[in-house]
Amino acid sequence: MSGSSSTGRTAIGEGNRPAAVGDGREPEGRQLEQLLATQARTVNAVSPLLTIVVPTLNERDNIEPLIALLDAALPSTNWEIMFVDDDSTDDTSKHIRALALADPRVRCIQRIGRRGLSTACIEGVLASSAPYVAVMDADLQHDEALLPRMLDILQREHVDLVIGSRYAAGGGLGDLATNRARISQMGTKLAGLICKQDISDPLSGFFMCRRDVFEGAVRRLSGQGFKILLDLLASSPRPLRVRELPFEFRTRQHGESKLDTLVVWEYFALLADKLFGHVVPVRFALFALIGVVGLAIHMLILWSGLDFMSLEFGAAQSLATLMAMTSNFFLNNILTYRDQRLRGWRLLRGLITFYGICGIGATANVGIASYLFNANQTWWVAGILGVVVGAVWNYAMSSIFTWKAT
Ligand code: GDD
Ligand code: MN
Repeated sequence: MSGSSSTGRTAIGEGNRPAAVGDGREPEGRQLEQLLATQARTVNAVSPLLTIVVPTLNERDNIEPLIALLDAALPSTNWEIMFVDDDSTDDTSKHIRALALADPRVRCIQRIGRRGLSTACIEGVLASSAPYVAVMDADLQHDEALLPRMLDILQREHVDLVIGSRYAAGGGLGDLATNRARISQMGTKLAGLICKQDISDPLSGFFMCRRDVFEGAVRRLSGQGFKILLDLLASSPRPLRVRELPFEFRTRQHGESKLDTLVVWEYFALLADKLFGHVVPVRFALFALIGVVGLAIHMLILWSGLDFMSLEFGAAQSLATLMAMTSNFFLNNILTYRDQRLRGWRLLRGLITFYGICGIGATANVGIASYLFNANQTWWVAGILGVVVGAVWNYAMSSIFTWKAT
């Protein structure tokens, strides 16, 4: 050991430098050299007051500019930035970790086989210990200049949550395309269904709150989709004291927006979960809804098999069953389990387990319905109970074996 730093903490000196590092010209090698040099001087041991949680999906080129902007915006605050990356294909996580070697304020959670902006933010907040937490996008569309004021308001006033608002007087949507602006405004109106507070921009993805405010709601959060702020507002056990600060939504410079039509679907799933989730879990409702679509597909194929293809009943029924199971699998994979969507060979394995599970489900369905019918139950009661048992079985088993929660 080459000794200790002036803080009395162990420092890594020249003698500890691994021989292989330094000759590599790749960025990680250079960063590691810097890390060793920094550690030789001192270890910065002050805990952060503020954690800025930033969800990322293919945002590599935005990472450095974002850190530079935060550096300039928060000169006198002890902050850290917690990226939560859903295994981006552009090496975002690797890039963040390389930067983190030279800057201890930079942290990264890499999630594998997972998707979802809201759950990413939740896990980012839970992985930090700072008394204040902010959430912002990586793509530089949110105005970091608001952060010191947000923190100041939370520290000095009786306010639980400060929101960066595009709709408050003085704010704006920037050059957001008119159709997106219209969808955003419609979404804002619908938010009133689950959030009774008068908030101009409940769909904003830019806010700061005290840790205890977040922790008070965390077990009730839905985690569905893109709208973590609305989820937080609707899930808090008491109405939050909110302040909104206007900001102008900026234009994305690098990378692409992840917004697609399925984000709208997820938004409805969040609304449904907050409205009825305590009665029926929203995933089961989606699974059942797709089951109904599957039944329609089944009947259509059975009918066309008999009428147009002149198949035997058994053959037509088998074909219809196979097609309905297959379409149910793909619909569930895209809609019900969007956050754990199977791809590549896992898709094939998932399809096979799904066939197996549904086969057992159908047997149980027919068995139970026949038993009840033979026990003098009315035909439609027996039929419905058989279907319910089959559906619950299919849902429960496929959530374990097909879309394993990793
Ligand atoms: N980890 C993770 N997982 N991050 C994600 C995912 C995901 O599945 N989807 C998107 N992100 C990240 C993006 O990389 C980006 O940093 C941020 O979440 C926002 O994604 P964009 O694709 O840029 O979304 P947007 O510009 O359409 O909408 C955002 O801004 C709105 C206005 O403030 C979202 O934050 C909205 O919630 C917000 O209302
Ligand atoms: Mn964006």
